[in-house]
Parts: sequence; structure tokens; C-alpha cells
Amino acid sequence: MTITCTEDFRRLYKARVPKMFHDYAESGSYTESTFRCNESDFTRLNIRQRVGVDISEIDTRAQMAGEDAALPVAFAPVGMLGIQNIGGEIKVAQAAKQKGVPFILSTMSVASVEQVAKATGAPFWFQLYVVKDRDFVRDMIHRAKASGCSQLVVTMDLAMLGQRHKDVKNKLSIRPTLKNLINIATKPRWAYDFVSGPAVSFGNVVGHAKGVDDLASLLTWAAEMVDPALDWDDIAWIRKEWGGPVILKGIMDVEDARIAADMGIETIVVSNHGGRQLDGAGSTISWLPKIADAVGDRVELLLDSGVRTGMDIFRARGLGASGVLLGRAMVYALGAQGKPGVDRLLTLLEKELRTTMGLAGKTRLGDIGRGDVYWSEGP
Ligand code: FNR
Repeated sequence: MTITCTEDFRRLYKARVPKMFHDYAESGSYTESTFRCNESDFTRLNIRQRVGVDISEIDTRAQMAGEDAALPVAFAPVGMLGIQNIGGEIKVAQAAKQKGVPFILSTMSVASVEQVAKATGAPFWFQLYVVKDRDFVRDMIHRAKASGCSQLVVTMDLAMLGQRHKDVKNKLSIRPTLKNLINIATKPRWAYDFVSGPAVSFGNVVGHAKGVDDLASLLTWAAEMVDPALDWDDIAWIRKEWGGPVILKGIMDVEDARIAADMGIETIVVSNHGGRQLDGAGSTISWLPKIADAVGDRVELLLDSGVRTGMDIFRARGLGASGVLLGRAMVYALGAQGKPGVDRLLTLLEKELRTTMGLAGKTRLGDIGRGDVYWSEGP
């Protein structure tokens, strides 16, 4: 199969990865309305076609959170990435380093922060879940720092768990049921990697969180550790522990963006967790301009949820984001083809972005603005 776009990766991913892990990524909470509108609202945002501009030199270099990047793209934190494709976190981190874009390691990764640091030798970003066990949170912050992580991304939209029906029905676990094992038998490439690779665990948690030393205690920990008490005082404490600026992920409201700005937060990720948390939340692209109007002069905005194409990256830049995070697009490419897939995804997205910029008459990202995009009003 010749891969020409993210959608091709999605199809191949579905064919190659066991159903329970594919369903884990390819679903949203409850009715999945937010999961769907994240993507579909991008297509409602039109791009102005411009001609007669010299577009022979197009520059896609960007800055995100004060760091240089070859593209305005980072890889979003995704839990259990290392089970979508064995060794997944390290493969994506290496692809990111090679291209010169940020990789964000999830707290709930298979490979630990130390293992990723050892394998890549590069600064990457670390995503923190603020769980009830604050000793674990404090240690995790210091482990990320000691591993050379350059940015701490604190996820704020998981103070309760949105339910994904498919995960409940599949009895999602890293300890497969018989039904899941039968499905795994139909994915020989994945099964081979799984049995021949290192044992799958949650590297940041097992052996570090209190009372978590095996799989059974880990599953209990993961289910019970989500902290509904997470508030802005915790953010102040985390900043102090980290000793520098933090990025807040999961901001979807003007009022919350203002609170963050008033606290002196420098970067936020406009995100609804890819439609996996509050079902009914609007799409991120529809909220971006409102948040940019409120705090764009004080806070750098990144955006994720629903980004699948270079055209989407252009649209997000148009409405005020300095860059985007890729969640599922990365999972599809990794699950389909491992590291070469992730390399190819970056190449494809760069080409789409360059072509879009050129046909919209833009040669530099900094020239893309609100006037270059407009909402379609329907037929
Ligand atoms: C996520 N996301 C996520 N976010 C986070 O802060 N920590 C995490 O561990 C995870 N885990 C996770 C697993 C899977 C399978 C998915 C699909 C997503 C959310 C992620 O960082 C990002 O916000 C969304 O994926 C963006 O939406 P798209 O690009 O997937 O549409």
C-alpha cells in the first residue's frame, strides 16, 4: 500500500494492531461527539487561496515554548504508546530528534523517562499527571528534570476519567483476556514483536509509586489515582518543584486561560484531550480564536485534538497557535509502520504544510494570520 496521507496510516494501523489497543486510541468518551467535531470543524475552516506571490522559498521553521523546531509540530503525550508498537516511545522520540521537533513523553508511558533519555540522549518534554500520591508527583518532576527534560507539560483535564465505552467492553488491560488473545493471534507482526520484545509495563510508575511493584497493583493504582482535587494551588506548587515555567495542557475556556495568564503561565495547550474527556466540549479549533483574543498577547498557545493534515496546521497557525501537537496521527503512523512510519508522517505533513502555505501565498509561518482563514457558512 502506498501511503500518501494520515488516513492511509489509520487504515494500516487498524489492520496491524490488536483491536483493544486500536479501540483505545480510536475512540472518544461517551457519544464521541467531541472526538468527531475536533476533526470535522477543521474542514469547516476555509483557507484563502492567493496567487502572484513568489513562493519559491518556503520556510516552515517555528518556535514552540521558546525552542526551535523544524516544523510547528510536536508529538503529544500518549499513554501506552509502547504497546501500539513495541518500543514505541523510544521510536517516536528518535524520529522527533532526527527531524528536530519536540516529543512529549506521557507519565503513563511504557518506557520510563530514564529509558527514553538514555536511548535518545536528547532533551524531550515530559507530561505530568497530577495524581493523588503527591510524593510520586514530586519524585516524577525531579526524575524528569534529572533526565534532562526541557519542558514540563501538566495535564489539567483529567481530574476525573471520561469513559470510553469500547475500553470497558474490551476489558482493556495490558493483561489480555482470552477474547483479546484470539484477536492478537490475527495480528502476527504485532504478536511477534510483543513476545520477542521486553516485558510491557508502565516504566514511570512500577517500582516508583508507593505499593506498586507488579501488574495487579499497578492496575489498581491507575484506576484510583486520578485526583479530583487538582486545583490552581497545585499548579503553583508544581512550578516551584520544577523550578521553571510549566506548560498547561487541557485549557478550553477563556476564563481558565485568563487565570493561567494571571498566574504568569507562559504556554498553554488548547486541548480537549482528543475528545476523550468532556464529551460535549466544543472543538479546539473553534475555541482557539476566543482564547487567542483573551490572552494571546500574554500567553503562547499550542493546540491539539483533531489535527490530521498540513492544512490543519496552517489553520491552527491562522487562528493563533504557534504550533500543534499530534496525538492519533502519530499513533496511526507508529502502529502502522514503527519509526519509519513516524518519519514518513513528518515528511508528508511537511509537504502538505509547504504546499498549503505556497498556494495561500505565504512563505513564512509568521505571515499566516487570522485573515488567511474563514469559517464556511454552509452551502
Ligand atoms: C492521549 N492523550 C493523553 N494526554 C496526556 O496528557 N497524557 C496521556 O497519557 C494521554 N494519553 C493518550 C492516549 C491516547 C491513546 C490518545 C489518543 C490520547 C491526549 C493527547 O495528548 C492529545 O491531547 C490528543 O491525542 C490530541 O488529539 P488527537 O490528535 O488524537 O486528535
